[in-house]
Amino acid sequence: MKPESPRPPQAVSVPHLREVRSYKLRSGRVTRSQEEALRLHWDSFVLNPTAILEFATIFEKCPKVIVEIGSGMGEATAEMAEAQPDLGILAIEVHRPGIGALLSKIVERQLDNVRIIDGDAVSIFEKLLPPDSLDGIRVYFPDPWPKKRHHKRRLLQTEWIEFAVTRLKTEGTLHIATDWKPYADWISQRGEANLKISGGLVPRPEWRSLTRFESQGLAKGHRVFDFLYTKNPEARVEL
Ligand SMILES: C[S@@+](CC[C@H](N)C(=O)[O-])C[C@H]1O[C@@H](n2cnc3c(N)ncnc32)[C@H](O)[C@@H]1O
Repeated sequence: MKPESPRPPQAVSVPHLREVRSYKLRSGRVTRSQEEALRLHWDSFVLNPTAILEFATIFEKCPKVIVEIGSGMGEATAEMAEAQPDLGILAIEVHRPGIGALLSKIVERQLDNVRIIDGDAVSIFEKLLPPDSLDGIRVYFPDPWPKKRHHKRRLLQTEWIEFAVTRLKTEGTLHIATDWKPYADWISQRGEANLKISGGLVPRPEWRSLTRFESQGLAKGHRVFDFLYTKNPEARVEL
């Protein structure tokens, strides 16, 4: 489905695990080059799924597949995809200029291992991702929703993480990075309770490229927190 103006309907329209969305659709300007990338390359790299995804078909040459939620303008996504060509990366994003920017980078760098879905990751996880199918989930610099009354909009909620982990294979990883200290505190306090994962705060892995939001945070003097968890079905469930 090619992008047109006005915005085309989303590929999936399904009930949500929760009622509020973790994003606000920004009316950010689509630059001429992003517009061109959207027009020329949408059909090649943006999936329009109507049924559960089959990664063996989508990423024929990639034995491992990860999902990145909120790829933003896609610099880090493209850089990491180029560094690991045998890793299939499914980028989920709702920001149209960001999708255009990532499409340009996919073509510039001739990447064969990145596909995009334009839509809400919460719905996509619920409706389109098979259980035990992912080698990793990456959530880099999720919108912090700093005001207390907006905390319910944060992507990372206990119930949602619990559900997302069901989409990981055993030993699959959940990698989160944030520069928002209160969000990081919540994540570390949340810990592993009920989540069937083990792990925690780690130094930034060398292979994780710096992201655009991260650079902005660092320029403001923020500290960055990386959390790396591994799915472990034997993890103790604390009731
Ligand atoms: C703060 S930005 C970070 C972007 C990028 N990861 C970076 O670090 O530069 C968060 C991004 O997540 C996207 N996003 C938030 N909630 C989402 C959801 N439920 N599904 C898909 N994308 C989402 C937003 O559109 C935004 O581009």
